Parts: sequence; structure tokens; C-alpha cells
Amino acid sequence: MSSTAPETGGEHKVGEESFEPRIIVFCCNWCSYAGADLAGVSRLQMPPHFRVIRVMCSARVDPEFVLRAFQKGADGVLVAGCHPADCHYIGGNYRTRRRIALLRILLQQFGFDPGRLKLEWISAGEGEKFQKTIVEFTDTVNELGPSPMKGGD
Ligand code: FES
Repeated sequence: MSSTAPETGGEHKVGEESFEPRIIVFCCNWCSYAGADLAGVSRLQMPPHFRVIRVMCSARVDPEFVLRAFQKGADGVLVAGCHPADCHYIGGNYRTRRRIALLRILLQQFGFDPGRLKLEWISAGEGEKFQKTIVEFTDTVNELGPSPMKGGD
């Protein structure tokens, strides 16, 4: 595997304190989780501020899971699933695409930047795409700063 990794997302200063974005990544079991695993075993450089939650299909990610992640302090949420037509539950990822689009509109209507929620298709062989997605999303969330929803229970 190539070691020409892009720069990892760095810290961003907010006032006097440094900001380390906390990112939750929901990965479907069959493709994206394997892609994340491949990125790890290939030792691709990534920022350390993300946590992966494995779900059987991206369609298992209920909107409540996303809202709960933000409520519990996540600064960004990434949902990763199989490429269109590759979902192991036939049309799960098509449902996910519609659901995430609606959720982004809903978040925006409540004054929340929809850029904090991202959907990406990552296959089992795309470790480098997983790494690139994490780096870019971390940079995006870094630019947005801490979530305004932080601190709720
Ligand atoms: Fe991967 Fe459905 S099994 S998105």
C-alpha cells in the first residue's frame, strides 16, 4: 500500500483552547468496516479523533443515532456504506441516502451546519478512500469548530 498519505487533520485553535474534533463514524459491516480495517492494517495516517461504530447496514443508522451522537458531544458524524447496488440488504443504502439528505435539511432548519453530517460509499477494498474521507471530514469539522449542540444529555 502506498504511504503517500495526505496530511492528517490538525488541531484548530478556538480562543485560547485547542479544538480536537470528535467524530463518530458509522460503518456497515460488509464493506465500509472492512475498508476502515484495511486503512488500519495498511497503516495509513489518519487523525486520531474518530471512533468507528459497526452496524450491519448503513440503513441501520436510525436518525436518532445521529442526533444522539451530536447530543453526546460529537462534532461530526460520518455514515459509510456500500456503493450503490452493492448493499448486502439489496436497497439499504438507497434508503440511507434519502434519510441522510432529509436529516441534513432538518439539521439546517434548526441552525445546525449540515456539513457536520456526511455520507460516503466505501467498499472493502478502499482503505485509501476511507483514509482520505476521514482526513477531509476532520478538516471540514475543524473549520466548523466545536458543535453548538455540545453539553446536552
Ligand atoms: Fe453496506 Fe447495506 S450492507 S450499506
